Amino acid sequence: MEKSTRNLKNLKFYVHTFGCQMNENDSERIAGILSTAGGKISSSPEESDIIIVNTCAVRKKSEEKLYSYLGRLASSKKKKKRTIGVVGCVAQLYGPELLEKKSFIDFVLGPDNYNLITEIIQSNHEEKFASTSWSREYKEIPHEKIFRESNISAYVTIMEGCNNFCSYCIVPFTRGREKCRPLQKITQEIQNLANKGYKEIQLLGQNVNSYKDPETEKDFSVLLKEANRIIAIEWIRFITSHPKNFTKNIAETMKGSEKVCHQLHLPVQSGSSSVLKRMNRGYTREEYLEKITFLRDLMPDISLSTDIIVGFPGETEKEFKETLSILEEVRFNNIFSFRYSPRPFTGAYKEKDNVSFEEKKRRLIEVQNLQKKIQLELNESTIGKVMKVLCTGKSKKAPRIYSGRNEGYQVVNFKSKNDVIGCFVDVHITSCGPYSLHGEATKQ
Ligand code: 5AD
Ligand code: SF4
Repeated sequence: MEKSTRNLKNLKFYVHTFGCQMNENDSERIAGILSTAGGKISSSPEESDIIIVNTCAVRKKSEEKLYSYLGRLASSKKKKKRTIGVVGCVAQLYGPELLEKKSFIDFVLGPDNYNLITEIIQSNHEEKFASTSWSREYKEIPHEKIFRESNISAYVTIMEGCNNFCSYCIVPFTRGREKCRPLQKITQEIQNLANKGYKEIQLLGQNVNSYKDPETEKDFSVLLKEANRIIAIEWIRFITSHPKNFTKNIAETMKGSEKVCHQLHLPVQSGSSSVLKRMNRGYTREEYLEKITFLRDLMPDISLSTDIIVGFPGETEKEFKETLSILEEVRFNNIFSFRYSPRPFTGAYKEKDNVSFEEKKRRLIEVQNLQKKIQLELNESTIGKVMKVLCTGKSKKAPRIYSGRNEGYQVVNFKSKNDVIGCFVDVHITSCGPYSLHGEATKQ
C-alpha cells in the first residue's frame, strides 16, 4: 500500500516559543522552513492545523509552564484534529518518553533536527516520530528561509551548544557541545540583512567569546571586525559572553569597531568566589571585577548587565551578602535574577538543594529590591540627556508612544509627531522609572 502524504500548501501553522533569544531565532528558522514549503504562518493556535511548541529546560519553572501549555493543547486537540510537534531543549532531554507520556503529541525534535520538520509533517504522521540525534557541526538552515519577527533588528546565530558544564546548568545536555557556524555563512547572512534594510543585528550563542571559525580558526574578534565592515548595519550586539572567555582583545575590538554597541551582558551568577568555584564558573570575584574595571577604563560609557542565581546548594548568608555587595560595587544597568533550580544531569543535581524555598524567595526579593534602587539612580542620572534610540515600534501600554532601545539596550519610550518606526531618533530624556526611560524626540 502506498504511504499517504500531506501537502503543506495552505495548511496553517503556529509556533509557540518558550525561553531565550536562541529559541526565538530557532522558531524563526522553523517558521521559515514551513512557509518555504507552502505553509501559512498564523497568529492563532486555535485556527492552526499544525502547532509547534519550542521548549526551554533551563529552570524547572520553564518546564512546568510548558506542561500546563501542553495540557491546554491536549484539550483543544479534542475539538479539532491537528498536528502537534514539541521541539527544542525539553524535546532533546526526554525524546520518545514525551511521546509515550503525552499521547496527543505527534512528533518530538531536538535542536539539531529541525531540517526534518517538513518531511515529518508531509508524511501525515501515521506513526509518531522522535529524533534527538546530535550533530557535530552547526546545522545550517539557509538564511533566506528565516521568517523574522522584526524587519528592523535581527538575530544571527553564530554558535550553539556549550562545553563549560557550569554545575547548575542543563544547556550542555540540551544543546550539546559547542558548534560554530562558518564565518563566511555568518557574514553572508549579515550582508543579506543589510541589503534588506535591517539596522541592528544581535549575534547569538551560548558562549560567543569562544567562537572559532571551523574552517580558518578565526576568532570572535575577527568576526566582530568583519561584521563591523558591513555597510548599512548600524548597531551590532552579542549575547551571551562568559567572563572566563571574555578577553582584553575582545574588549579592545568592541572599542575599535564603531558599530559594536558599548553594551555587554556578562553573567556573574554569584559574588562569592567559593560559590563560583562550586558552580564551576572558572573565575573568582576578583577576576570578574578586574574585567569590569578594564572594560570601564576602556569604555567609560559601557552599559553592563548580568545574571544572578540565589540559593545555590550550600549558599550561606555570608556568601549571599557577597552577591549583594558585587551588585553595589559594579552597579549594573540591568540584571536577570533567578532562584536556583535543580536540573537533572547537572553536577549540582547530586548536591542537597538545602536552601529552603522561602529563603531563596527572600534572597531573590533582596537582590531585586537592591537592583531596583541602583537602576533608578542610574536612570535618573540620564534625565536631561539626549540619546540615540532605535525605534522598534509603539509602546505596548500607550499606543501613541513610540518605543525602542538606546545603545545600552535600555528601553526608551518617547513622544514623536512623526512615525519613526525603524529609524534612529535622538530622544531627550525627561523622566524615568527603574526599568525604562521616557522622553521626546528632539526633531519633530
Ligand atoms: N537554576 C537557576 N537559574 C539558572 N540559570 C541557568 N541554570 C539555572 C538553574 N539551574 C540561569 C543562569 C543563566 C541564565 C540563562 O539562567 O543565570 O545565566
Ligand atoms: Fe550553561 Fe555555563 Fe554553558 Fe552558560 S556557560 S550555557 S551557564 S553551562
